[in-house]
Amino acid sequence: MRELQFDRHRRLRNSAQLRDLVRETHLTANDLIYPIFVVEGENKRNPVASMPGVYQLSLDLLNEEMNEVVSLGIKSVIVFGVPENKDEHGTEAYHDNGIVQKAIVHIKEHFPQLVVIADTCLCQYTSHGHCGIVEEGKILNDPTLDLLGRTAVSQAKAGADIIAPSNMMDGFVAAIRFALDEAGYTDIPIMSYAVKYSSSFYGPFRDAAHSSPKFGDRKAYQMDPANRMEALREAESDLAEGADFLIVKPALSYLDIIRDVKNNFNVPVVAYNVSGEYSMIKAAAQNGWINEKEIVMEMLTSMKRAGVDLIITYFAKDVAGWLSNK
Ligand code: PBG
Repeated sequence: MRELQFDRHRRLRNSAQLRDLVRETHLTANDLIYPIFVVEGENKRNPVASMPGVYQLSLDLLNEEMNEVVSLGIKSVIVFGVPENKDEHGTEAYHDNGIVQKAIVHIKEHFPQLVVIADTCLCQYTSHGHCGIVEEGKILNDPTLDLLGRTAVSQAKAGADIIAPSNMMDGFVAAIRFALDEAGYTDIPIMSYAVKYSSSFYGPFRDAAHSSPKFGDRKAYQMDPANRMEALREAESDLAEGADFLIVKPALSYLDIIRDVKNNFNVPVVAYNVSGEYSMIKAAAQNGWINEKEIVMEMLTSMKRAGVDLIITYFAKDVAGWLSNK
């Protein structure tokens, strides 16, 4: 006689309490890094049209925002500057009095416990909108490295706790590590955007940061979304050059890459849940088509399940709030 045999997986799903006990992946406020955009001026709270709930803030309004962040239990912010003036070489990126430097000084003065990460790139500061020096339509690699080193040092001098270079020039981690060490900032870690794809998911950010390239695209320095082995090569060289964290960006369409990076390297892995991933959800939620809270929690949990230790996300405040009211 043949007998029907099978496993009863549903035994472990029978109550909320039991499900809590056997849950494999947990999202906490400690996982979250909140991006902020800072602008010159006073009393500025400019909404970013394509990112509902995201604002460019002037320094005088930062305390209010940071109070909220800290009271929600978020431990870290990443700062993006939107400068008043742009030029060919992005000089405001490495001015001691640049908008990001001033914001960092301000935040560290009022919230010394907050881990402040500085995004180190030139595209918001250059008149052409590219992440490096441009000559005859080409984005030059090696001459850009010196500017990145100077930017990182000025950010460290302002009090940044972590430097996060995002420009995708070859050797940028080596150049920044060298410059930081020479200036005496040997203790400042580098969170490298090691695996950064040339992605259409960055569209809304370029609205927020006024950083769209004025000609061409970023395909000659950011990665081709079709490539997987290349991600491992990028991660490997950044680690060899001295990176302390590896970022994979974007997150949602790249969970396979996150898992690859986690399996192959032993430093903290960070996902950047980018602007387009945020705006898609906001738009659908505003139409009443999805349950925003449940979708966001599911999405961020899937990133952790894929292997990330930390998530940079515009949803950080929402998520921290939902976690504390559970
Ligand atoms: C700057 C930078 C970008 C993002 C973060 N840093 C945009 C880009 O490379 O054009 C995108 C972040 C987001 O979409 O949320 N290099």
